[in-house]
Amino acid sequence: MSTAKKEYKRITTKTLVDMKSKGEKISMLTAYDYTMAKIVDNAGIDVVLVGDSASNVMAGHETTLPITLNEMIYHASSVVRAITRSLVVVDLPFGTYQSDPKEALRSAIRIMKESGAHAIKMEGGKEIKESIKRTLNAGIPVMGHLGLTPQSIYKFGTYTVRAKEDAEAERLKKDALLLEKTGCFAIVLEKVPAKLAEEVAKSLHIPIIGIGAGGGVDGQVLVTHDMLGMTHEFNPRFLRRYLDMFEGMTGAFHKYIDDVKNGDFPNEKEQY
Ligand code: KIV
Repeated sequence: MSTAKKEYKRITTKTLVDMKSKGEKISMLTAYDYTMAKIVDNAGIDVVLVGDSASNVMAGHETTLPITLNEMIYHASSVVRAITRSLVVVDLPFGTYQSDPKEALRSAIRIMKESGAHAIKMEGGKEIKESIKRTLNAGIPVMGHLGLTPQSIYKFGTYTVRAKEDAEAERLKKDALLLEKTGCFAIVLEKVPAKLAEEVAKSLHIPIIGIGAGGGVDGQVLVTHDMLGMTHEFNPRFLRRYLDMFEGMTGAFHKYIDDVKNGDFPNEKEQY
């Protein structure tokens, strides 16, 4: 029996802050298309993230960098058409907000206007403060993202755990506080030590949603295709697989091939 909290008719940014204050954990998963979003929303997931991980999962790119604003809008509008309850947050893709706050606002407005999403997410701290401010001033809710920020993968050089050293941990804590003060309604914290993540979550009023950040935070996010076991080759320690869809789907495809080859499909009842 699911513990999905159906009493919230619609999840808003305020609902998430209320959940944190009541000690209720927030569930968040990705979706990039209508069919998956419909299942995720119907299951009672609180936040649906149209992540720029679509670049890897949907398009097969090695990083999140190549995905475009138009492509994100396409994915986001497909997701929004399916949603009845969840809050829909959309990633601003690489290169659409870092250069100046006006460009950030233009990109955020396009996402909100053309997809119907409820909020946007940007990666980074102090360096994008003005972009966050400008976007918030236009009435667009912003979710932050700190720790391992995949759009900076070429700066980091690896996807290993961030902020293990004191200097980076201190920077991260300052950035988290700055994002809260600037007005972000929540922060994703990716791949950082659990102790640090818990400390950040305890020191802020806004929810911290972790991925590879331990259980001491206010909610969890995973890439849906990973937790369903569709992406076979991706095996980080933080990932719990709830299904083995790679095996399940391969088995179904083998059976279909056999049925077609043997003339077993379609049968008498499956034709006109
Ligand atoms: O793009 C994405 O899916 C994300 C999550 C991993 C948090 O940013």
